[in-house]
Order: sequence, then C-alpha cells, then structure tokens
Amino acid sequence: MKNILEAPFIKEMQSACSNMYRLGWDERNGGNISYLIPEEDVAEYLDTGKVIREIPISFYAPELIGKYFLVTGTGKYFKNVEGDPETNLGLIRIASDGRTAQLLWGYRDGGKFTSELPAHLMSHIARLSVDPNNRVIMHTHPTNTLAMTHIHSLEEKAFSRTLWGTCTECIIVFPEGVGVLPWMICGNNEIGVATAEKMKEYRIVLWAIHGIYGAGKDMDEAFGLIETVEKGADLYLRYAHFPIVNRISDKQLDELATAFGINYRKEFLDL
Ligand code: 13P
Ligand code: ZN
Repeated sequence: MKNILEAPFIKEMQSACSNMYRLGWDERNGGNISYLIPEEDVAEYLDTGKVIREIPISFYAPELIGKYFLVTGTGKYFKNVEGDPETNLGLIRIASDGRTAQLLWGYRDGGKFTSELPAHLMSHIARLSVDPNNRVIMHTHPTNTLAMTHIHSLEEKAFSRTLWGTCTECIIVFPEGVGVLPWMICGNNEIGVATAEKMKEYRIVLWAIHGIYGAGKDMDEAFGLIETVEKGADLYLRYAHFPIVNRISDKQLDELATAFGINYRKEFLDL
C-alpha cells in the first residue's frame, strides 16, 4: 500500500487550499472543497474495506452510492491543510443506504466533513448529470466577487453581462454566465437544493453576500473559473464609480465568441 500523503489527490487539495488562503478568499474556516476520487486511485493508498467510522449525511444521495470524495473538514482552516492534511481533510465513501458517509481516512481529531456537504454532494449529482467528467466542487469567499453582490443587481443576465464586459477573457472562460442565488441561510439542505438546481445550467453559482461555488473536471478548471470571476469583479469595483469611456459592446462580445468558437448564452446579450 502506498503512502496516502504522497497521493496526487492529497497534494492537489493541499495546494488548492494554500493558494486560496493566500489569495485572501478563505479567512478562518471559510470555504470548502470536495473532490471525487475514482475507487482504483483510492485503493492504491487505502484498504477500502476498513471503515474508521460512519457519519450520517442528512439527506438521501442514491446517485452517489459507492463513490469516494476527499472533503475538507468543518471548522478547519484552509491555511492548515498543507501542514496537517490528515486532521483537516477526510476521505469518505457514500454507503449503500445513500444516507451515510463511511470515513476511510482523515478527520483525525474526531471531526467531520464540511457543513456545506449537502450543497457539495447535490452539486456533484447535478454536474455529473450534465458532465460525467465533473470531479470538483469548490466553495470559497472571494473578496471582490462578494463585494460586488452588495452593489450590483443579482439578476443573472445583468450580473453575467457586467462580468463579461470587465475583460476579454470572461465570456471565453464562462460562456454560460453565472448562476446567482439570493442571500440564504447556509449549511442546510435547502441551499444545497437551490445550488444544485443552478449547477445543472452553470459551473459557477454565486451566493449573494456569502461566496461562490465553482465546478470542474479537475482542480484547475474549478479554480480557474472562480479566479476569472474574481478578476472581473476586482476590475468592476475599480471602475464602476467612474464615468465609463470605453466598453466592449454586445456585438463585439458576440464577434469575440464567434472568433473563439464559443457557444455562449445568447439571451444574456441584446443583439
Ligand atoms: P465549514 O467550516 O463547515 O466548511 O464552513 C465554511 C463555510 O464557508 C460555510 O459556508
Ligand atoms: Zn462559505
């Protein structure tokens, strides 16, 4: 059996958490990540028959029975994942009842998975239904994106169009736009259901005055989506209070998308 601390999936999680912490997105225990790991990868490092303990997941996820996820712990700080992955992360498998997580590694101090597990697992189900290669759901509190949700209309067309207009790469990176939820209580099944509903159409879902969810086939895709939204929001906050002299028109955005062969959400532009 190989040493799990050397596993690429642990190392990817460590560097994602450190990068996000250093970007200032994950204060204290802010943010959480779940990473779907194929059974054959897990089996290289762990005896999959050895369950440390079982933890109820508070909802029914029959679609995920037998699937393995590496998940950040609740109350754990992203800045500490690098130095002590075994305390701050856990590797779980969804049991055959669809309602229980079997802990195979991690949460060494008796801890458990993030309080946002419903939003994560429900989002995995939603993304897998439209993209079988999706493996990562990432939640974080990027400063500028969060600030923008205080001052901008939360209407999805308006929010997406503003972000697309902030710099050339936005419509190329997230041509489907961004899904937006109003402010809601977090950490429960209700926000999980609402997030997952948006995830059927978007890889990015904003939680107003809280944070963002990104989805992707790997860490880079999920991280890159969030990073690009955050760059757009940063730019917006720098110029929104000035008279706007130059902007990318709807026609130019359409030409840009055509030039890059991008199939964007047409109803978000007025052509
Ligand atoms: P957890 O510590 O439970 O992961 O919660 C952090 C967070 O960002 C809640 O939305
Ligand atoms: Zn949060």
